[in-house]
Amino acid sequence: MTTNDNERPKAPHPVMIILRTITETKQHLLPVRSKGATIGFVPTMGALHEGHLTLIRKARNATDHVVASIFVNPIQFNNPEDLLKYPREEESDIHKLKEAGCDMVFLPSVEEMYPVPDSTVFDFGQLDKVMEGKFRPGHFNGVAIVVKKLFEIIEPDQAFFGEKDFQQVTIIQDMVRQLHMAVRIVACETVREADGLAMSSRNKRLTPEERAIAPAIHRILSGAVRLRRSRSVRQVKEWVQKEFQKVPAFTLEYFEIVNADTLVPVEKWTAGDRIVGCVAAYLGKIRLIDNIEFI
Ligand code: PAJ
Repeated sequence: MTTNDNERPKAPHPVMIILRTITETKQHLLPVRSKGATIGFVPTMGALHEGHLTLIRKARNATDHVVASIFVNPIQFNNPEDLLKYPREEESDIHKLKEAGCDMVFLPSVEEMYPVPDSTVFDFGQLDKVMEGKFRPGHFNGVAIVVKKLFEIIEPDQAFFGEKDFQQVTIIQDMVRQLHMAVRIVACETVREADGLAMSSRNKRLTPEERAIAPAIHRILSGAVRLRRSRSVRQVKEWVQKEFQKVPAFTLEYFEIVNADTLVPVEKWTAGDRIVGCVAAYLGKIRLIDNIEFI
């Protein structure tokens, strides 16, 4: 699903409001909503790049008032070192959001978001049993808890997520359905570097040698798609595994070919089904994910 970038031309907003508390954020949004303006929301963990900023621009074209959040959500990290090393670049993030046409940014502290621990347990059935859910236990429960809280604070009409985190968007869509939330989830195409590498805040942690190797992920996925007509699902999986083995710097964690709606691994190519190939691989110490649609 994408939005039309030319839907509504708007005047640039000269000021961007920066708020750190839930109360102030709700107070700011109340008159916006009562004037009849629609609210577009882009949740992030900061260290912003073109992938994030594209979501802001999409929100800007589709809604009247664009809100971003920057919050490094501790409960979605199952690796403590990853949380510790997560890049924090508040000042330059604020500058980038302003430039991209964001109207308000919500920058809460951990205490503001979690005055008491939140023990909600979601049931996503199969959706969080595979891929990221299998290798990062508790991750999607932590994502769902924070996104639910953020939706309750911002009450957006539309919220924009990247297909780069394919399983995340599917799970958020499921959460919204389960909770009957009145927000439209807009999934936006993955933004890539010129060499095909999916943009990610983790790319900064790659050594120059690793950075030069990293585009192989997208190259291998694109190669897999080209094989769809001539090989079985099992053969394509084996081919992908072999291609990763050819590059010793990679440790492939998983490659799955799944139904895009149910995330159930498919055994054969079925015409009419949306099928996606999803990968997670370590390059040195850095874990990278990507996916591609089999069309
Ligand atoms: P974060 O990794 O900061 O990503 C914020 C949003 O940007 C997500 O919807 C993600 O899919 C999107 N995004 C990241 N890289 C992208 C790319 N190359 N192209 C397109 N979109 C991209 O995802 C999270 O934060 C968190 O889990 C969050 C949803 C904020 C909850 O804490």
